[in-house]
Amino acid sequence: MNRYLADENATQLLAEELLAALPAELGGWTILLRGELGAGKSTFARAFIRAAGHVGAVPSPTYTLIEPYVLARGNIYHVDLYRVSDEEELRYLGWSELDDGCRLVEWPERAPGLVTAADLSLSLNYDDTARRACLEGVSDRGREVIQKIN
Ligand SMILES: Nc1ncnc2c1ncn2[C@@H]1O[C@H](COP(=O)(O)OP(=O)(O)O)[C@@H](O)[C@H]1O
Ligand SMILES: [Mg+2]
Repeated sequence: MNRYLADENATQLLAEELLAALPAELGGWTILLRGELGAGKSTFARAFIRAAGHVGAVPSPTYTLIEPYVLARGNIYHVDLYRVSDEEELRYLGWSELDDGCRLVEWPERAPGLVTAADLSLSLNYDDTARRACLEGVSDRGREVIQKIN
């Protein structure tokens, strides 16, 4: 699924649409957020987390690596792997313990093993001052969700 995102608001709307297309129980879903610095990965994650009911700040997980949110539809873990250089570090992070929630992962390229285990992959690319989004299903259930968005 491809979409032209004219401005930040369009990025936020896409996040809200994706959340609406997902099952009520978000546990166990993994969504990869790809794109260069400033492409809008955190903007998307923030909108997704707020649409899921979080009120207040959504700090960047660049230093903490994981920011957890306990929400009505399940936990959401906002993960930023920018500073992770070795996949083994994920183990120390307690990655497997994040199974009960929905994992939103920025810079998933840092952990290649994650990429095939994901459900959805969103790529954000610069197009002049706007962005282009490509949302793809990785798992079967991920592909089913994409069918609902257009
Ligand atoms: N569709 C868009 N068009 C133009 N600017 C956007 C769009 N989406 C987000 N932005 C802007 O680009 C920047 C993205 O920053 P951020 O979300 O932190 O990126 P990343 O997490 O990918 O590094 C923000 O300043 C935001 O306002
Ligand atoms: Mg970011």
